[in-house]
Amino acid sequence: MTKKVLVLPGDGIGPEIVEQAVRVLDAVNDTFSLGIEHESALVGGSAYDETGSPLPEATLAKAKAADAILLGAVGGPKWDGLDMAVRPEKGLLGLRSNLELFSNLRPAILYPQLADASSLKPEIVAGLDILIVRELTGGIYFGQPRGIRTLENGEREGFNTYVYSESEIRRIARSAFDAARQRGKRVCSIDKSNVLEVTVLWKEVMEEVAKEYPDVELTHMLVDNAAMQLVRAPKQFDVMVTGNMFGDILSDAAAMLTGSIGMLPSASLNAEGRGMYEPCHGSAPDIAGQGIANPLATILSVAMMLRYSLAAKSAADAIEAAVSKVLDQGLRTSDITSEGCTTVSTQAMGDAVLAALKA
Ligand code: IPM
Ligand code: MG
Repeated sequence: MTKKVLVLPGDGIGPEIVEQAVRVLDAVNDTFSLGIEHESALVGGSAYDETGSPLPEATLAKAKAADAILLGAVGGPKWDGLDMAVRPEKGLLGLRSNLELFSNLRPAILYPQLADASSLKPEIVAGLDILIVRELTGGIYFGQPRGIRTLENGEREGFNTYVYSESEIRRIARSAFDAARQRGKRVCSIDKSNVLEVTVLWKEVMEEVAKEYPDVELTHMLVDNAAMQLVRAPKQFDVMVTGNMFGDILSDAAAMLTGSIGMLPSASLNAEGRGMYEPCHGSAPDIAGQGIANPLATILSVAMMLRYSLAAKSAADAIEAAVSKVLDQGLRTSDITSEGCTTVSTQAMGDAVLAALKA
């Protein structure tokens, strides 16, 4: 049976890194006879430029029909002045909400070869292996009402709504507990329950769901403390579960613990396990087109896609092993380079992963 992958390169460095990731996908598709077919479509700023929409109907239809989606990145200064409704980011957010990709898995794993690239002391990050489970289709990102309005006195006021229903909290809690069962069996739920009612409910529902998972330990932490603990003693965490906005912020911090945000893949899954896979980093417009971006987060996102949506665990393992081998060889893109290593281009990093896969 053929499996359909939709490739959405997007903006900035998106096309460069996705090109390398697709080469890797094609290689394992051949070696493991996976029967994967892929096609590309427009999303983000490049889609806006061509069609006037950051998420054209045709792209959404293809996304709905696909077994999995591989996305590069969206956005850039070129589109900063646009109305909120047609900003490139709306393309990404629209995909997430239309496909109900509520469960965002962001693993922060430190490759031992990159211990030097972290801004933290090696002993603080050595062996780091955290999974951030971020709620992705609710919270303040999507809550209504929202907008900028003019008050009677003529002053303008911006407003958003931070809202979570019990069912939304329950399903992301289950994602986190299920994930914890596959690893360290500890979940730390992050909230701001000393100030925000919505997270008082969040905490309560987490406790309720925890009763279904007696083998998993649940603890709670306030988000400000969690930010501090992530840089103070990150290895205390196994699975962290949190809402959309806190997850956005904490996952960037967790990413840097691993040396570079250029190493972190992510999966965004719906209730059936169909998903969109993308690097955690953005479109990096400052280095776009120079051929120096790190393609490894996107290549590792392909591995997650094979594992979670395409039932191809061996191919996923092979890609992860190839990435590790390339790091062993001392090859680094400029974001993760350090003394004694060879700095290589985006394309050369792709070549090296392909060579490691074949060896
Ligand atoms: C991320 C990004 C997005 C988000 C942006 C591009 C809308 O920062 O995936 O973390 O805020 O979710
Ligand atoms: Mg982010």
